[in-house]
Amino acid sequence: MRHALALLAVACTVASAQLAWTPIFLDGSSQVDLWTQSSSGCACPGGDGEDCACCVRDGACPCGDVAPTRCAQCGLEQYCANMCNITIDSRVLKNKSGKTFGQIKSPSIEGPGSCSYFLQPDAGQRVEIQLYRLVSVGRFNGTGCVGGWLQLGGAGAVQSSAAETRLCGANERYSPPVVLFADHGASKLEFRITEKTVRSQFLAFFSFTSLSNTQGVGFHPRGGSRIPHTDCDWLYQDVSCRGAGSCVLASPGYPGLYPPHRRCRYLFATNSVNTRVKIIFTSILLPRNHCATDYLTLRAGNSPSAPLLGSICTERTATLEHPGPNLLLEFSSGPLVPRYDYNGFIAKLEFIERVDSSGPPPTVVPPSAPLAALTHHMQNVDRMAIIDSNSAANEVSHNNGGGRIGCGATVRAYGPGGARSGHFDTRATAWRSQCVVHLLGAPTDVVQVSLFNYNLRLQSCRSHIEIIEGVHEFGGRGDRGDRSERGDRALLRVCGPSVREARDPSGRFLIRQAVTSKGANLTILVRRATSQSVDEEEFVDGAFAFHDEHHEGTASPDATCAATHYGLAAPTHGGVAAPSHHHIFWNIEERLLCTHRFIPAANQSVTIEIQRLERMWSAEPTGTVGAAGCRTACGDAGCECRANTPLHYHDHIALVAGDGIHLSCLCGDFQAAWLPVVVRSWTSVRLEYSVAHYTYASRGFDYAAAYSFNNDSMCGQRTYTTHSGEISSRNVSVTGSLNEFFYQQCTWVLDSNVERQLFIDISSEQDKSCGSWNITLHEWSGSGAQSDAGLAAAAGELLYTFCARHKNHTYTLPWRLNTVVIRLVALSRQQPLYRIRWRSQVVRANNRLGPPTPVPAASAAAADLTQTTLAFIFTYLPWFIIGKALRPML
Ligand SMILES: *[C@@H]1O[C@H](CO)[C@@H](O)[C@H](O)[C@H]1NC(C)=O
Ligand SMILES: *[C@@H]1O[C@H](CO)[C@@H](O)[C@H](O)[C@H]1NC(C)=O
Ligand SMILES: *[C@@H]1O[C@H](CO)[C@@H](O)[C@H](O)[C@H]1NC(C)=O
Ligand SMILES: *[C@@H]1O[C@H](CO)[C@@H](O)[C@H](O)[C@H]1NC(C)=O
Ligand SMILES: *[C@@H]1O[C@H](CO)[C@@H](O)[C@H](O)[C@H]1NC(C)=O
Ligand SMILES: *[C@@H]1O[C@H](CO)[C@@H](O)[C@H](O)[C@H]1NC(C)=O
Ligand SMILES: *[C@@H]1O[C@H](CO)[C@@H](O)[C@H](O)[C@H]1NC(C)=O
Ligand SMILES: *[C@@H]1O[C@H](CO)[C@@H](O)[C@H](O)[C@H]1NC(C)=O
Ligand SMILES: *[C@@H]1O[C@H](CO)[C@@H](O)[C@H](O)[C@H]1NC(C)=O
Repeated sequence: MRHALALLAVACTVASAQLAWTPIFLDGSSQVDLWTQSSSGCACPGGDGEDCACCVRDGACPCGDVAPTRCAQCGLEQYCANMCNITIDSRVLKNKSGKTFGQIKSPSIEGPGSCSYFLQPDAGQRVEIQLYRLVSVGRFNGTGCVGGWLQLGGAGAVQSSAAETRLCGANERYSPPVVLFADHGASKLEFRITEKTVRSQFLAFFSFTSLSNTQGVGFHPRGGSRIPHTDCDWLYQDVSCRGAGSCVLASPGYPGLYPPHRRCRYLFATNSVNTRVKIIFTSILLPRNHCATDYLTLRAGNSPSAPLLGSICTERTATLEHPGPNLLLEFSSGPLVPRYDYNGFIAKLEFIERVDSSGPPPTVVPPSAPLAALTHHMQNVDRMAIIDSNSAANEVSHNNGGGRIGCGATVRAYGPGGARSGHFDTRATAWRSQCVVHLLGAPTDVVQVSLFNYNLRLQSCRSHIEIIEGVHEFGGRGDRGDRSERGDRALLRVCGPSVREARDPSGRFLIRQAVTSKGANLTILVRRATSQSVDEEEFVDGAFAFHDEHHEGTASPDATCAATHYGLAAPTHGGVAAPSHHHIFWNIEERLLCTHRFIPAANQSVTIEIQRLERMWSAEPTGTVGAAGCRTACGDAGCECRANTPLHYHDHIALVAGDGIHLSCLCGDFQAAWLPVVVRSWTSVRLEYSVAHYTYASRGFDYAAAYSFNNDSMCGQRTYTTHSGEISSRNVSVTGSLNEFFYQQCTWVLDSNVERQLFIDISSEQDKSCGSWNITLHEWSGSGAQSDAGLAAAAGELLYTFCARHKNHTYTLPWRLNTVVIRLVALSRQQPLYRIRWRSQVVRANNRLGPPTPVPAASAAAADLTQTTLAFIFTYLPWFIIGKALRPML
């Protein structure tokens, strides 16, 4: 898979990368070994004889009786005969021999057996091992070492054996040596033979090397910061990488062999919209033919699920350049592969400020598009905004800004060249102390503005930003008088001195600082020093978007992305789609939730038809990615998202009723053949568009849905005061889609102010389960009667439940239960078809026709009624006739 992916490198020159290593020891003479000048000819320690070894002058000590012909490094001379199970402490060694490096020559051991070497660096040192020779030390079986190995690891930490740096070989001479670094303080070099051998041995040099050593081995990363609680992850922000060469990154253990089975992530984060990231790999050296396990990938976003920009495996150098705000470089390593002749990568990082025409330009209105039609076609149109050129000031923004929106710009949301959203930056135009940007919307627009970064230097609010409703001209006469009025109308005011950077030091974007206008026009005013400061520029950048309230719903001022469509005010038909005004989402790198709420008026229903849907992804917390994480299952009661992890980890579209019931949910790789999914509801419905991990460069999945408000009076919340009547379902037109669902929550109240016996007949010819729809009869709870919306709350204790399979049932309600609540609840593929009829017996006599149903305890006082002399029986008579007839008598 991996090698099939294209490398999108800007430049990729193949050069012969060298293993970067500096020999610990250079043997210039004919001496016996590192510490022995000659094996005889010098005085023996203790004074008995002249025939002992001559040691080199610097740092060597004679071995003494155990090996009179040899010398060793001072401090280690007691291990002359058996250099096994020892501790080498950098400070002690330096004290005794004046050196921080030396040699480890293991004894020739008969397997199985083992030797350990503890290497204790001083503060600011890393441990380096250079391996020259292995004899009978296991072998590589394709994934790991068997029979024996030499392992470098942390002294304390226990890794799984697969993640350990283990080397093996039957009879190997390494020239250049295999270089290993350990960067976690005290380290342990372990030599272990687990099978029978005659003579197993290794030879290596060790060195305690200063981290600040700038030559060769002294590499350490620059400009980045370690991400806590990770093995090898780093964050590089543009603010900490100013100046060439100030940021450098490399694979772990560089320039040594990197450890196996690692996944290291390097996140590059920019604070400015126009910043591009240039990664210059000066050396890449990965094992040959292991591209499936050892590779580098670059993604547009901060998560491993973000879109892939390129991958690297066989290249020796490369340069990649992409816009921010987030790029993720991932380094993956597989098992260590003999001959251990590779060492990963090293790269320089540059953040480049560049006006870029390949980046996303402002979202633009198609020329001459009628205003009403522009809403849903905007995201496909990518033309640069043409900025109002009536004023001379704007010519500056044309010439210097290349179309960027800066001081003096007037952005129109409509007409040819109008921009629906974009970025603005006061640095796009020549310096002026007073900087005004006008954002002019169409009559039904509101304007959203989000500030990303700013720097205001002057004290006492002499530098400031104001975002003001309406169109305002400044700098001319009359400005002074205008000010107090303006102050009142400022939606947002930021006073100097004040600094905002889009991100915090840990690379997370700050909470958005955004406003939404009430009207169609907005003015951004920036007042700052009369001249530009050399070292600290005063500026503001951010994004804007126009939101057409007529077609896109009423914008919710507090929410990032929420709109409401009211059945009475909105067009009866319309469409909604994935947000096109993504410029104002530049600083979102988390879950993005956009909602459209549809509120049908009384006697209305709303139909929402999801017509088009792109594949949706999952971003599991573990960082694994795929469409497999969530699956859509459609049944009689709507479509459902099925996932093992919470739904917010999965891209999805949900239709949620006002009472929180999920009417349908779509996720994963939903088949186009199952579309459209239609929900018709008689209560409010919220369409939730949820992108599990939004990032500016990837923007989430696309969808299109149509909505319509229908005149459907059959499920209003109504009160009937007639003593008899009928409520029956009315056929509504259907789309014929396989996945069409009806959601009804109807409440009817049968109310009477005289005592009565109520009979309710319910019938249905449908053969449906109780779960798909049912009608319930309730006592009147007395609460919630004030408002129409609260009628549902009037349903008190449940008396009876009718299901379609009952076909026909007559319910005789308790005597003197004058008010009952009938509820219909349906969530089904078929519209419920039913007929409810009721009639009342009003008894005002002591000689009634037929005995009334036993009285519930609460209304036991009913018996007193029998004292009345007159008796009337009203059956199947409209209440108003009864009412008129009775009222004078009551
Ligand atoms: C270094 O050696 C001196 C004496 O030669 C001794 O006093 C001192 O403690 C030693 N330091 C260490 C760190 O071993
Ligand atoms: C070194 O130490 C280990 C564990 O302490 C022991 O198993 C091994 O035999 C020792 N090696 C030698 C050569 O003494
Ligand atoms: C190679 O050895 C490792 C243990 O070091 C073992 O886990 C693995 O299964 C072996 N692989 C093969 C292909 O034999
Ligand atoms: C917005 O400004 C334009 C240009 O000044 C003006 O024609 C229009 O009437 C204004 N719209 C509103 C709603 O104030
Ligand atoms: C709803 O429709 C019914 C008749 O179908 C009517 O009596 C009632 O006034 C309507 N309600 C509203 C709020 O329009
Ligand atoms: C719904 O009824 C209103 C008036 O009550 C009417 O203006 C509107 O056109 C009707 N809509 C449809 C789709 O019939
Ligand atoms: C409603 O539709 C069903 C099937 O769609 C049909 O059988 C029935 O006759 C219709 N009823 C009315 C009142 O139109
Ligand atoms: C009544 O119908 C609703 C909606 O389909 C369902 O949720 C509920 O469980 C049903 N009640 C019974 C008692 O089956
Ligand atoms: C339901 O049953 C009653 C009597 O039990 C009958 O009068 C009525 O016509 C029936 N209704 C239907 C729809 O079958």
